[in-house]
Amino acid sequence: MTKARGAPRRSCAALRELALQALAAALALGVWFLWNNFSSAVWPFDFFLCCLIGIAARLLARIFRSPPWWQVIHLFFAPALFLALFWQSRLGFSPFWSLAAFLLLWLLFRGAPSGQAPLYLSGESAARSASTLLPQGAALLDVGAGIGSFLLPLSRMRPDMTLTGIENAPALWVLGKIRLALSGKAGRNVRWQMGNFWQIPWAKYDAIYCFLSPAPMPAVWEKARMEMRPGSLVISKAFPIPGIAAVTRFKASSATDTLYMYTVQKTCI
Ligand SMILES: C[S@@+](CC[C@H](N)C(=O)[O-])C[C@H]1O[C@@H](n2cnc3c(N)ncnc32)[C@H](O)[C@@H]1O
Repeated sequence: MTKARGAPRRSCAALRELALQALAAALALGVWFLWNNFSSAVWPFDFFLCCLIGIAARLLARIFRSPPWWQVIHLFFAPALFLALFWQSRLGFSPFWSLAAFLLLWLLFRGAPSGQAPLYLSGESAARSASTLLPQGAALLDVGAGIGSFLLPLSRMRPDMTLTGIENAPALWVLGKIRLALSGKAGRNVRWQMGNFWQIPWAKYDAIYCFLSPAPMPAVWEKARMEMRPGSLVISKAFPIPGIAAVTRFKASSATDTLYMYTVQKTCI
């Protein structure tokens, strides 16, 4: 059996950003203590200091060339943390609610850090376009299947195909499972899997469908090239693979509805 090639190392990127935030906090605290002639015995935690941390973190992120979205997160992280704690103590609500909000976000958006793709859904039109591109009886894997918005209509249009969806956000996986159960006959050719698409082999599939973001596309192509058979298809909605010419571009009225189709060629390693 072909081994799955692991996910690209994104945890290192997150650790790097965390280190920048910590460095900014240390610098801002240093400035604050110098400013006060080391006279304060208590740790300061006020809005002004948090804004200083935010500005320092944003500057560091710029110097170390963090992606633009990280720079925005760095700027607002410490002030937002301060405001959240301030309003929590002001309104007297239990920290349990913050934990509950965090858990809910994690259940819904777990795929955002691991796949560099948040949740947005393909419509029925993507399934219709893809159904015309896919060969008879093909086995297709939807990497990051959300709640099945692509696979369910495709399963109605192409009962000849074997469809698999893999999703790692627990709440989305459950919603997809319920939709599948309620779809009756239509979803019979769909296998619904919980897991990380970077950690499973893609070799047994004739086609991969993805609707992710620009960031993981080079790694998606690399994994497809290394694991899939020559002639297999990679279909990406909205996000082309940089530097690779698509064999078919199913142009739609808006750029987000365009499908890019690539054929895996034989790899020489
Ligand atoms: C933009 S949505 C697309 C959903 C679905 N394919 C569609 O077209 O409607 C991307 C999905 O990928 C999931 N995802 C991101 N990284 C993942 C990973 N490493 N393993 C499994 N799912 C992942 C996200 O949770 C999200 O639901």
